[in-house]
Amino acid sequence: MPKDMNGKICLITGANSGIGKVTALELAKLGAKVVMFCRNSKRGEDALAEIKQKSGNASVDLMIADLASLDSVRRFAADFKAKYNKLHVLINNAGIHYPERKLTIDGYEAMFAVNHLGHFLLTLLLLDMIKASAPARIINVSSEAHVFSKIDFDDLNLDKKFNEFQAYGRSKLANIYFTYELAERLAGTGVTVNCLHPGMVKTNFQRYSKMVQDAIKKAPPGLLISPEEGAKTTIYLATSTEVENVTGRYFENLKAKKSSRRSYEREIQKKLWEISEKLTGLA
Ligand SMILES: NC(=O)c1ccc[n+]([C@@H]2O[C@H](COP(=O)([O-])OP(=O)(O)OC[C@H]3O[C@@H](n4cnc5c(N)ncnc54)[C@H](OP(=O)(O)O)[C@@H]3O)[C@@H](O)[C@H]2O)c1
Repeated sequence: MPKDMNGKICLITGANSGIGKVTALELAKLGAKVVMFCRNSKRGEDALAEIKQKSGNASVDLMIADLASLDSVRRFAADFKAKYNKLHVLINNAGIHYPERKLTIDGYEAMFAVNHLGHFLLTLLLLDMIKASAPARIINVSSEAHVFSKIDFDDLNLDKKFNEFQAYGRSKLANIYFTYELAERLAGTGVTVNCLHPGMVKTNFQRYSKMVQDAIKKAPPGLLISPEEGAKTTIYLATSTEVENVTGRYFENLKAKKSSRRSYEREIQKKLWEISEKLTGLA
């Protein structure tokens, strides 16, 4: 059962495309105040107009920021706090898969930086506000791709060895470590945090990588789902009364399931947290 989302403020990163756009639209249809975190003004404005028109909800806002820049994330969080005094649902959805090794303006490997570090910083900068809005929920969009990867803390920037699938998978494994550690830290606060695999979804996600495009072409019929299907678990975790008190779990197809064995290593969860605090300047 979806909750009545009237009066709820929901922030979604990467809300102009694919899974994030459908999530924003469905939450707007349910009456939420939706804030779209997008990196490109034109793409953001186009999606904003479409979401307002299709949902009939005028209470949708667009804020421009780039998860690849820690300064941009800091500015976003300050602007968000100046504009709003509550945050009931944070959906860390934006994600990127690059075929080659790139460094961000802060000097970090780009997939790790955008998919993990940017969201880590955003969440922690907004955490007091989220706690003050409890009951509240945080949802991290991870991926099944995490199962093939691990984090080598001696080569966080992948100077020694870069493989696009390992690098992407590592960033999605980081989403899970972050979810599990944050859930521990938020116990008793009324804030839940869960992560998910959306399925193999037909979005703009493959646009940079020929290898991802080829993998999609070879996918058995029926495996590739629409963005509407792909957004279902995110929307469920954001709105359903069934998961009101569920926290620290990994979901697929509206069901909690086990993530990789490695993702449950408490030592690594803590280590990644501490390193992420240092890399984002929080420590
Ligand atoms: N599609 C799949 O099969 C699949 C499978 C497993 C997991 N996922 C995960 O699902 C999430 C959503 O992906 P999608 O499939 O919906 O892909 P998508 O259509 O490419 O959407 C990704 C969104 O992230 C935004 N984004 C990328 N880099 C950003 C940055 N530096 N700052 C702010 N926003 C940024 C994109 O903005 P622009 O439009 O401006 O680039 C876009 O809005 C990702 O986390 C992805 O890892 C997808």
